[in-house]
Amino acid sequence: MQDLKDKVAVITGGGSGLGRELALCCAARGMKLLLGDVDEAGIQETLRLVEERAPGTESTTMRLDVSRLEQVQAFAELCKTRFGTAHLLFNNAGVSVNGPIWENTQADWDWVLGVNLYGVVWGIKTFTPMMLEQGEGHIVNVASAAGWLNGPSAGIYNVSKCSVVAMSETLALDLRDAGSEKIGVSVLCPAFFPTGIADSQRNRPADKADTIERNEIAEKRAQALKYAVEHGRIPASDVAEMTLKAVEDDQFYIFPHRKIKQLIAMRAAAADQEKDVFDSMNPQ
Ligand SMILES: NC(=O)c1ccc[n+]([C@@H]2O[C@H](COP(=O)([O-])OP(=O)(O)OC[C@H]3O[C@@H](n4cnc5c(N)ncnc54)[C@H](O)[C@@H]3O)[C@@H](O)[C@H]2O)c1
Repeated sequence: MQDLKDKVAVITGGGSGLGRELALCCAARGMKLLLGDVDEAGIQETLRLVEERAPGTESTTMRLDVSRLEQVQAFAELCKTRFGTAHLLFNNAGVSVNGPIWENTQADWDWVLGVNLYGVVWGIKTFTPMMLEQGEGHIVNVASAAGWLNGPSAGIYNVSKCSVVAMSETLALDLRDAGSEKIGVSVLCPAFFPTGIADSQRNRPADKADTIERNEIAEKRAQALKYAVEHGRIPASDVAEMTLKAVEDDQFYIFPHRKIKQLIAMRAAAADQEKDVFDSMNPQ
């Protein structure tokens, strides 16, 4: 979708990190904004920054838990009432937990898959028909390098992000089958970059609070993850800008960190050899 001016951007997880930067990039292009997040203070701060950098941007917000279909439906209704339709959807909200996969609790699985997997499922299910009706639109699903590389101590997150890659590829093919070439799809697959993702527990709901006691290895992995996120070389603002350019160029795969593509090729080579598991932290 090339001309984004005056079009409507819908962003989940718009109260922090990448979602906030996507909102700023969309506002800079003259788009109208619908922002949803469980963190209401976070979306208010995003709105403040939008108003500061792109005064007069038309924006609406809603407290939204993407894991709940009825809330995503209410979000879409709000979009129709306020703006008439949606043109660009970012299924961006995401959370993570660590720990050896056999120790993760049912609450860990329910929480992370609820946000990272079902959040995207409900976003696609609810907003695609609106785009089909108007014959135009673009959906960006935020996956991760973890959707291809499966590092240790992040089993649930890896599963959720592999699913987002699979869902995005299938969505693009299904839209092509339906003759809807004017609805674009992109899957964003970044490596680590500085945001609040390593501190996801801050927005964890009380009814999904039960989690593992971290042992020494899991604690080390969690600290390493936090360090990697904080020291990511590409800022969230650049990841957001690359994503908007990819939408304008109708690009499906988005890898802001070029090294990830080399690692994916190495993983394919490891699979071809049918021997040892591929370790992206220590590639051979
Ligand atoms: N930062 C990284 O290193 C990195 C790398 C690859 C992919 N990603 C992905 O980028 C996306 C954005 O995350 P981020 O890095 O900006 O982290 P972040 O923690 O800064 O932002 C995530 C936002 O999602 C919101 N959120 C959490 N649960 C929600 C729910 N149930 N409903 C609605 N909103 C909810 C949070 O409140 C927060 O505002 C995620 O999908 C994440 O997996 C991040």
